[in-house]
Amino acid sequence: VFGNIVRAPEDPILGVTVAYNKDPSPTKLNLGVGAYRTEEGKPLVLNVVRRAEQLIVNDRSRVKEYLPIIGLTDFNKLSAKLIFGTDSPAIQENRVTTVQCLSGTGSLRVGAEFLARHYHQRLIYIPQPTWGNHPKIFTVAGLSVKTYRYYDPKTRGLNFQGLLEDLSSAPSGAIVLLHACAHNPTGVDPTIEQWKQIRQLMRSKGLLPFFDSAYQGFASGSLDADAQPVRMFVADGGECLAAQSYAKNMGLYGERVGALSIVCKTEDVASRVESQLKLVIRPMYSSPPIHGASIVATILKDKDMYNEWTVELKAMADRIISMRQQLFDALRARGTPGDWSHIIKQIGMFTFTGLNTEQVAFMTKEYHIYMTSDGRISMAGLSSRTVPLLADAIHAAATR
Ligand code: LMR
Repeated sequence: VFGNIVRAPEDPILGVTVAYNKDPSPTKLNLGVGAYRTEEGKPLVLNVVRRAEQLIVNDRSRVKEYLPIIGLTDFNKLSAKLIFGTDSPAIQENRVTTVQCLSGTGSLRVGAEFLARHYHQRLIYIPQPTWGNHPKIFTVAGLSVKTYRYYDPKTRGLNFQGLLEDLSSAPSGAIVLLHACAHNPTGVDPTIEQWKQIRQLMRSKGLLPFFDSAYQGFASGSLDADAQPVRMFVADGGECLAAQSYAKNMGLYGERVGALSIVCKTEDVASRVESQLKLVIRPMYSSPPIHGASIVATILKDKDMYNEWTVELKAMADRIISMRQQLFDALRARGTPGDWSHIIKQIGMFTFTGLNTEQVAFMTKEYHIYMTSDGRISMAGLSSRTVPLLADAIHAAATR
């Protein structure tokens, strides 16, 4: 009965890892998926995560019962505080509902399903370019997707004018997806001044912000600084949605732990919204898994562990920043044609190199370096040992 099924293409990001795994070369390098690696090229489990897991395992009172549909209560409360700030008036006024979801993707999907059922405007604007999964998540949830200009290939920076123009011409009430920090794939974020203007424009047009916060702490190394744009939108009483992921900032990739928060006008609205979120979640996966959320809650609850986390998080962010400098220096030393200063200007996990599809294919074929075809490289996958190899490959690609 399935004889006519057409083979689907691999995912543009996760498929890079599939291709990488098949390559027998001993020098192969995976800069595709945004996953942190140590200087030795190994995945990292944070010490504080190991500590939290020990506590959880040793606590015999913990059981494996189902969580409620919306997940672990402590986790939800602490996640809202992490993104909106401990002194957030919206939290104090109980106007925020937070539900535990399956990492960033699951949080976006639950938020999108909720909007498709209950919000009057089905149109969502996403930046051009954006994370490849965004348009798919929103489309399957039943929203219509349009793009707004974001990146300027000429300056390799923000097309702020284009962004303002496109959001100005969006119909009133449209949803706007905003990357809270460390824009994926470009590594280009608005300045705080620009955020203020975006907020004013969106407020005046009644546009609904939907934040994707997958990298809090990774852009600047500071959890508070990276949440500033979100907090700014909430500070004046504004409503919004925010999807949080703990994949990168706690290294909990495979635990699939994240949260969706919806900031409402009143406590009563928030509780009605929450009742509807349960109706979205229950037929989808019933309730979320317990382990990852318990790790996060254990860390966020304990001052000492929280501080240890911030130190480890900063160390990851700093290592990425040093990779940017090393790659930039290596290209300069080789005299590679072009201006590569965007490597040190862009922030977060990724550099949007400007290399085209053919150059990427060449680097994969000749140098066994794997990256997404749009020229994005995960700086978190580089090390001092592999920077020269990458620089050689970019140099060869740029001088062919
Ligand atoms: C990425 O962009 O590489 C990450 O967000 C991982 C993913 O799921 O695509």
